[in-house]
Amino acid sequence: MIAAQVYTFYALGYEAITSTLGFLLYQLALNPVIQDKVVAEIIEMLKKHNEEITVQGILDLSYTGKVLDETLRMYPVVPNLRRKSTKIYKIPNTNLKIENGQFIRISVLGIHYDEKIYPRPEVFDPERFSLENVKARHECSYLPFGLGPGHCIAKHYAQVLSRVCLVKLLSQFQVEPSKNTPRQVEYDPIRSVLYPKGRFPLHFVKRKASY
Ligand code: HEM
Repeated sequence: MIAAQVYTFYALGYEAITSTLGFLLYQLALNPVIQDKVVAEIIEMLKKHNEEITVQGILDLSYTGKVLDETLRMYPVVPNLRRKSTKIYKIPNTNLKIENGQFIRISVLGIHYDEKIYPRPEVFDPERFSLENVKARHECSYLPFGLGPGHCIAKHYAQVLSRVCLVKLLSQFQVEPSKNTPRQVEYDPIRSVLYPKGRFPLHFVKRKASY
């Protein structure tokens, strides 16, 4: 039982966070204005906390949080959820019926790219996650960590760890696209999580002043 739990934590946790951070850095490389805003927030936070990474400092990174949210909207590493129906359900305006006990897949990727919920879904826009915009949407319109009793056990840990990695990295390095950076992401079909196919080269340029 312990071995199974350790495997689940490793497999779900490690791949999910590295993949998410990879997609996030890719978007920051393509969107330098957004990157500058993230870096400004990180530097401000480090100054306020005597150059130390503190829990409060990490929680205060609200714009960086929005950038993470938008990354997981565009690239939900678990692109569909598995559920078992507990009652018969007729899907409105269709002839389709889900039977009691039937296994179903919920397309998180499909929901996150629904234009009625997220206009111009292919555009990376962290402001979709301003407080007002989040409040205006149904809670099921954003499912990167799933929902309900089986939702990701490590949601908050993953968010804190990702922010710590970004502080360490972006306070030292500027991330830029290279001539080989793809402008369109293709996914690797053999991975269990959403993962880019092939190489994903980015340049890391050391900042003149380190913070
Ligand atoms: C960005 C990072 C992560 C994302 C996007 C993510 C996403 C998810 C999703 C979508 C599920 C399925 C939820 C559902 O069916 O409703 C899940 C389950 C799970 N995740 Fe994560 N995860 C992340 C990081 C982690 C980390 C770091 C760990 C462990 C250290 C972890 C451990 C687990 C476990 C154990 C489950 C199964 C929970 C259960 O079945 O009760 N995840 N995760």
